[in-house]
Amino acid sequence: MRLIAIADLHYDADAHERMRDLARMINREGGDVLVVAGDCCAEGPALLGEVLGHFEDFPGERLMVPGNHDLWEDHPPFSTEQVYRETIPGIASEHGFHCLDRGARIVGDTAFVGVMGWYDYGMCQREAPTDGLTVMPVRVAPGAEGKMSFSALPGVGEMAWEDLTPEHYMANGLVWQSEGAPHVTVWNDAVHLDWRRPDREVAECSADTLREQIASVAGQVRRVVGVTHFVPFTELVSYRIENPTRAFARAYMGSSLLGEALLEAPGLTLAIYGHRHGQEVREVRGVVTADAEISDREGPLALTLPD
Ligand SMILES: [Fe+2]
Repeated sequence: MRLIAIADLHYDADAHERMRDLARMINREGGDVLVVAGDCCAEGPALLGEVLGHFEDFPGERLMVPGNHDLWEDHPPFSTEQVYRETIPGIASEHGFHCLDRGARIVGDTAFVGVMGWYDYGMCQREAPTDGLTVMPVRVAPGAEGKMSFSALPGVGEMAWEDLTPEHYMANGLVWQSEGAPHVTVWNDAVHLDWRRPDREVAECSADTLREQIASVAGQVRRVVGVTHFVPFTELVSYRIENPTRAFARAYMGSSLLGEALLEAPGLTLAIYGHRHGQEVREVRGVVTADAEISDREGPLALTLPD
C-alpha cells in the first residue's frame, strides 16, 4: 500500500500556484491513500474547499484531519466546536475527503483511525531556553478591532522559566526581558478559537475518540494507521530549544494522551502527524512515526506499507 502524507500547507490566496503545482504532482504520482494531517489553511476554513478540491484527481482514498489553523475565526464569539464537528467534515465530504474525526476508515486490510487531537501542555520545555531566564506569564484574549488584550494573572509576577505550570501556559502569553528590551510571545489560538473548556479536556476527548475508533475496527484488519494533527509522543519534541518564543510553543505541540491511545491499537504500524513543522520519519516505541510537513526541499512524504 502506497501512502502519500502531507500536512501544514498553511494555504492562503497568495499560494495558489504553489498549491496547484503540488497537487498536480501528487495526483499524477498517485497512491492508494492520500492523508492530509491538518493545517491546510493559514487562517480558518474559508479556503479549505479550494485546497481539498485540488486533489479531486487523486486516484486513491482521500482522508484528512483538520489542524488548529483550520479552525480559526476572525472575531469572537467563536464557534470552534461547530467548525470542528460540522463545518470542516462537511467541506471535506463535498470535496471527496473523509474527515477521520467522524470515524475510522478501512482500506483493504488497513484501518485508518484519526483525530485532530489537541495539546495539554505536557510537552512544555521544562529547561530554561537560556540559563537563568525569568519570565512573566500574561493572559491573552481577543480585544477590540481585531487586536489582542493582555492582562496580568492575579498574584503572578516574574518567575524562573522552570517554575512555569500548566495554569501559566493556559494564559497563552509570556513576557520576558532580553538584552534590555521587553519581548512578548503569544500562542495565537487564544485569539482565534475557543473550545469553552480547558485544553486538557479537549485532548482527553480526542484520545477517547481514538479509542472508540480502534474498538470499532477490532478484528477486521491486519494493521492500523493513526493520523493526528498534533504530536502524539513526547519523544518527538524532546529537544532543548534556546529561542524563548519557540520554546514556549513546545507546550502547545500536542499530547501524549494521543500516543497512549494509539498504542492500544493491535497492529498499530504507523502514526502520521503534523503541526511540528519538520518532516521526519522515525521509530518511537516500536511504531513508525511520520511528521508529514510538506517540505519544499523534500516534497510530499511517500510511505509504503508492505502488502
Ligand atoms: Fe498546527
